[in-house]
Amino acid sequence: MELTAEERAMLRGNHGPGVRRAMEIIVALGRSFGARRLVPVSSVQVAGVSYRNLGEVGLEFLRDWADQGAKARVPATLNPAGLDLRTWRELGFSEAFAQQQLAVVEAYGRLGVSATCTCTPYLVGNVPQVGEHVAWAESSAVSYANAVLGARTNREGGPSAMAAAITGRTAAYGLHLQENRRPTLRVQVRCPVRTLSDFGALGYLVGREAQNRVPTFNGLGHCSDTELKALGAAMAASGAVALYHVSGVTPEADCPDMLANNADTFTVDDLRPAYAALNAATREIDLVWFGCPHADLEEIAHIAGLLAGRQVASALWVTTARRVREEAQQAGLVDAIESCGGRVLADMCVVVAPMDQLGFRTVATPSAKGAVYLPSHAGLVVRYGTVERCVEAAVTGVWSP
Ligand code: F3S
Repeated sequence: MELTAEERAMLRGNHGPGVRRAMEIIVALGRSFGARRLVPVSSVQVAGVSYRNLGEVGLEFLRDWADQGAKARVPATLNPAGLDLRTWRELGFSEAFAQQQLAVVEAYGRLGVSATCTCTPYLVGNVPQVGEHVAWAESSAVSYANAVLGARTNREGGPSAMAAAITGRTAAYGLHLQENRRPTLRVQVRCPVRTLSDFGALGYLVGREAQNRVPTFNGLGHCSDTELKALGAAMAASGAVALYHVSGVTPEADCPDMLANNADTFTVDDLRPAYAALNAATREIDLVWFGCPHADLEEIAHIAGLLAGRQVASALWVTTARRVREEAQQAGLVDAIESCGGRVLADMCVVVAPMDQLGFRTVATPSAKGAVYLPSHAGLVVRYGTVERCVEAAVTGVWSP
């Protein structure tokens, strides 16, 4: 692998042991994927934040790296944690978990990573341009960066993203290379895709079929950024899809050299199989969860409007980035939801939270990614449906037939 003089100096340890360790990770990863060089990255998004997943070993690893003097040299942001860093006590999370979670965020802070704690860094100012190389780790954010923004990133693991932040480099393989961004699966959509949960259902079906390939959608018409966020997150969850194209919508979809020639075709003419696969047979709903990926202002306004001042019977949580929560607060949306008994929470993701501490057993959500992961990762029984249906479930406490 060709390295520049500065990269070789990092590898030799001229910039300290923490930088050497980071460069060793980048180079080892690049060699294993046959990369010929490294590319500079303009931003990094780091996953592996919840103490529930990291544990003591992960926390010690981060502290040790920080003790070696390692620090991010490019803007780096954090994925969600396992609780709201400010209101965890009111929500009922244990003191012991909270202290360990706060210690993880503090260790990342020493490594120069901002405690944004969101899976939607692109909603809080980290918006790479078309063609820009970045190193992001959260699967839905990777999908959004590649497909919607036209930036270039592989799905990084926790240590490799941190290593990219410390060196400002990543290995040039996978989706950093033009030839790997071509569509390898044509998707024909022949049924109406109207609601946010429809986009999630479509993504779930296509992801299952695609399994790491690059789908290109025809027949989808105009899609909003919120709908693309739901579509990409679902494909990432069901099929590890890190890049997709939508004809007439996403920036690389209609470039002449991007058209699929020998790609297989997958036709979707019915979304009901996805709704069936993502729904368990539970009537009682303990928690209704919106904001997976983290909610944007438009989604928060939609939920507030649907609640229309009615009190909720079950818990209702909207998770979002802290900065978006502040904007929602200024717009009166937080009060509109919280005066009905709901909560607008920042910093956290239910999938990586220790939900067993709170006594919830069942959850309703319009997020296909949430519906895929909640049973296995949070031990919750899931109902999946439209935002409207989920709000009604919160108000009545049951999933209507
Ligand atoms: Fe974000 Fe957690 Fe969903 S990280 S995409 S809210 S599973």
